[in-house]
Amino acid sequence: MNYKELYRKAAEAMPNAYAPFSNFQVGAALLTGTGEVFTGVNVENSSFGATICAERTACVKAVSEGFREFEALAIVSCKGKGSPCGICRQFLYEFSPELVIITGEDENNLEVFILKDLLPEGFRL
Ligand code: THU
Repeated sequence: MNYKELYRKAAEAMPNAYAPFSNFQVGAALLTGTGEVFTGVNVENSSFGATICAERTACVKAVSEGFREFEALAIVSCKGKGSPCGICRQFLYEFSPELVIITGEDENNLEVFILKDLLPEGFRL
């Protein structure tokens, strides 16, 4: 699975976002170290603080299925690119500080980051 394919998986997931409050739909696709892909979307709630981002949805799905090593994460939003929030950066850092983060306006204009660069001095017990 290359970066473009992973970006497409995130884009395919995005319409499942439940975002009636912000109207900001996000899709994510997380590639494990062994080649599985877990997608996620943001799921909002009337109690706003209960909202979960697309990135954490994908991560929680993967971990709950027994996967803890991640290679890459693609993020797509209804505006095109996305940037993981601070909570999601820390959440993902727990498992894979070297995670490759892929986003972009479209699949032909991808931007690539490394998680540990986006979260310097990330916390781990
Ligand atoms: N959101 C994500 O799902 N991922 C991000 O990277 C940024 C924000 C969601 C949370 C909320 O449902 C909406 O976008 C607006 O903040």
